[in-house]
Amino acid sequence: MTFWSKVRVSWQAFKTRRKMNRQFGKREDPFSYETTPYESARLAAMDAALGPGPLGPVLEVGCAEGHFTARLTGRSSRVLAVDISAVALERARRRAPKADFAEADLMTWNPGPEAPFDAVVLGDVLYYLDRPGVGAEFEALFPRIASWLKPGGRLLLAHGFSSDKERAHRRSFRERFERAGLRLVSETVPDADRGGVRCLLSALEKI
Ligand SMILES: C[S@@+](CC[C@H](N)C(=O)[O-])C[C@H]1O[C@@H](n2cnc3c(N)ncnc32)[C@H](O)[C@@H]1O
Repeated sequence: MTFWSKVRVSWQAFKTRRKMNRQFGKREDPFSYETTPYESARLAAMDAALGPGPLGPVLEVGCAEGHFTARLTGRSSRVLAVDISAVALERARRRAPKADFAEADLMTWNPGPEAPFDAVVLGDVLYYLDRPGVGAEFEALFPRIASWLKPGGRLLLAHGFSSDKERAHRRSFRERFERAGLRLVSETVPDADRGGVRCLLSALEKI
């Protein structure tokens, strides 16, 4: 990364961290995971898309307050969960005490010797990173994340959309992972709806 691209990436991370800490600072569960049928249906569909049976090491990025993390700890030998917001992570640690957590910006973070994983989960997080000025770093994310999976490992993408344009944008995440060498296993839009928002759920596999 050049000096100026590092500055742009750090600035973007600073703004996202501040926004997310503000959002989580307002109250617990700002996305209403505990009270919204859409969110429970979405998390259940994500769980099912990971396939049946127990999993080895799993990485979740953008874990927020740990609602899906807690599910993952019930079926994985080890869960590493990453988020940019310290406020969210404090609650996630309480909700999923068996998981390990890291406070980091996905754009620059690397799992190091923790990789490779049986599964990597990205739920409603990639659109926070797809911002003007950091396009090259955003494109570089796809092969980087693909490289963190074991052969046969599964990548789960779950991103909400409320229009055809947004759906195509969310689909473009999956298409970039395909170009990075992952194979599409399934893609669905579960029935659940939240004020016009639905979820594009894609499972891909490393060949
Ligand atoms: C809408 S929540 C999604 C929570 C959960 N993954 C889900 O599917 O419901 C998005 C989370 O991504 C985190 N996030 C946003 N940008 C991030 C980044 N650059 N690196 C790591 N986490 C990020 C936010 O702090 C927030 O907790």
